[in-house]
Amino acid sequence: MPLARSVSNVVLFEVAWEVANKVGGIYTVLQTKARVTADEWGESYVLVGPYVESAVRTQVELLEPPQPALRRTLAAMNAQGCKVGVPEGFGVSLVAFEVVLGRSGEAWVPWYDREANDAVLFGFLVAWFLGEVRLGVHQGHTWGHGDTPGDTPGHTIFTTHATLLGRYLCAGSVDFYNNLHSFDVDKEAGERQIYHRYCLERAAAHCAHVLTTVSHVTAAEAEHLLKRKPDLVTPNGLNVRKFSAMHEFQNLHAQSKARVQEFVRGHFYGHLDFDLDKTLFFFIAGRYEFSNKGADIFLEALARLNYLLRVNGSEVTVVAFFIMPARTNNFNVESLKGQAVRKQLWDTANAVKEKFGKKLYESLLVGNLPDMNKMLDREDFTMMKRAIFATQRQSFPPVCTHNMLDDATDPILTTIRRIGLFNSSNDRVKVIIFHPEFLSSTSPLLPVDYEEFVRGCHLGVFPSYYEPWGYTPAECTVMGIPSVSTNLSGFGCFMEEHIADPSAYGIYIVDRRFRAPEEWCAQLTAFLYGFCQQSRRQRIVQRNRTERLSDLLDWKYLGRYYTFARRMALAKAFPESFTYEPPEAAAGFRYPRPASVPPSPALSRLSSPRHSDDEDERYDEEEEAAKDRANIRRPPSPPGLPPTRN
Ligand code: UDP
Ligand code: G6P
Ligand code: GLC
Repeated sequence: MPLARSVSNVVLFEVAWEVANKVGGIYTVLQTKARVTADEWGESYVLVGPYVESAVRTQVELLEPPQPALRRTLAAMNAQGCKVGVPEGFGVSLVAFEVVLGRSGEAWVPWYDREANDAVLFGFLVAWFLGEVRLGVHQGHTWGHGDTPGDTPGHTIFTTHATLLGRYLCAGSVDFYNNLHSFDVDKEAGERQIYHRYCLERAAAHCAHVLTTVSHVTAAEAEHLLKRKPDLVTPNGLNVRKFSAMHEFQNLHAQSKARVQEFVRGHFYGHLDFDLDKTLFFFIAGRYEFSNKGADIFLEALARLNYLLRVNGSEVTVVAFFIMPARTNNFNVESLKGQAVRKQLWDTANAVKEKFGKKLYESLLVGNLPDMNKMLDREDFTMMKRAIFATQRQSFPPVCTHNMLDDATDPILTTIRRIGLFNSSNDRVKVIIFHPEFLSSTSPLLPVDYEEFVRGCHLGVFPSYYEPWGYTPAECTVMGIPSVSTNLSGFGCFMEEHIADPSAYGIYIVDRRFRAPEEWCAQLTAFLYGFCQQSRRQRIVQRNRTERLSDLLDWKYLGRYYTFARRMALAKAFPESFTYEPPEAAAGFRYPRPASVPPSPALSRLSSPRHSDDEDERYDEEEEAAKDRANIRRPPSPPGLPPTRN
């Protein structure tokens, strides 16, 4: 029996390919959850991930591990030629293994599948490491953590954040959810040449002592595709940033919006025939899975929205951003030129302003009112004319910021060409700025990080078909930005379960489960059009409501599901020392319809806030917030931590 009997020796290892290695949402789970887990486990919590040179160089420093057992283990492994280090990061101990590129030597993993070979190598290293440490509860995330469950001395939890086969099936044209129970999984995996990966994932799910997943949607998928029903659903949380002033996040919206507006001014130079004050920014972001992430229906709904805004003579313009990484060879000249032209106009205006100010000052110094005809001279006019001349352009503003490597076949670009949204002056929907790279504050084109960008937008649109959880709408929510999701995403279902009237809170959920494709699209278009009809005041009220949902998504509340999973694993290992009580799902948060929304759905247009600009005086936001808060049913405080010990 290798596992120490004394529970004080229990160490928690959390293993994933995305520890300090940003790929998608799993990174966000680990990074945001680290603090609450470390609060519970202290130095007995260790994250284990791959040693990705670029990530280690930019995100972390190498440290001496504080725990003697860890120091001994690392020394032993390094002495045998393995490269293991402890980068400082996430605020907890983090062990990183260098996975030397190459073949795993396992005959059943094809040589050309680099990702699978890396996963197997990583799995072996983790098993070796855990064998040396000889303690612990071990929690692995998704198939990429390799084949460690079962081989290791501790008790294991496997958390699946998606199934590989599910992702592949959905990306094809398969009616996935209606046929979930009847797929011939071996055949389907074989046909997609992922049989070896599928086996790895299925083995991990079956060998683990406890299987968990992030939503009920994915629990059903795991049951049918991996053939094991998860023991527990552990919904994903976030670190919620609380501001002392309620309005602080609204101010941040206004500041960030100004940055996005600056970019739009540059991008549309020469075509700024729309009022930026009446322009709404919509966006979709995430890994580039065109139909799984719902980019296809978003584009279709934008084409319909363009028509509706035009025929109804709306003054609103919508600029839609697509932030989805694709293969490019850098920014295109036209996009960079746009920002250069804008900068030049700004510099020109400032130069003229300086000269104007100086003359004005001199005139006031001698006690005269300035002669306005002499404030600007010929040179100033020439400079301004030159700057205006630079804004002439023959073409429409580009729909994409980069040179795409697969331009002719790219699904977003081909759809834009088909629906004809080319940023022309007649279009009310200015599609579409396709930015095929994740955002960064060091970008020469759009120098904002993702959080700042989200805060500056009005609506996140994530109409996914395949989305085990979906961090993007959750992140919008905690920043007080309304979003669209679907009842096929873990997030959408979770919000439906906890909120009586989600759209009143700016959580629009498209029904992609029980309706036909034409109906989804019509419903999404109606959400977008309804949103465009709101006044500024209504948007402010709605953002306040959205932000009020943050507690629901806070790890301080959702971290308890992970605590339960670990207790379940420990109770299986040491029934005499640990007890396990299933979480009371019904005891969670419940948000009623907001106080200001009329009870009858007929009276509430899609439940959006009913106050218009001229109703300001009758409306007291603080009062509404206080009433709503009083009505929220809150869960009992988290159980005592760390886990019950004898
Ligand atoms: N994201 C990012 N930069 C961007 C766009 C997205 O860091 O420019 C992050 C976003 O914050 C989110 C993650 O990418 O945490 C996407 O996670 P999600 O669960 O929505 O989808 P996944 O890619 O895991 O399927
Ligand atoms: C925040 C700011 C307000 C600003 C508003 C713009 O609420 O505090 O000062 O007017 O944002 O809202 P909008 O939805 O038009 O971007
Ligand atoms: C996966 C899923 C995504 C989820 C994330 C974190 O990448 O695709 O929906 O949010 O894992 O659980």
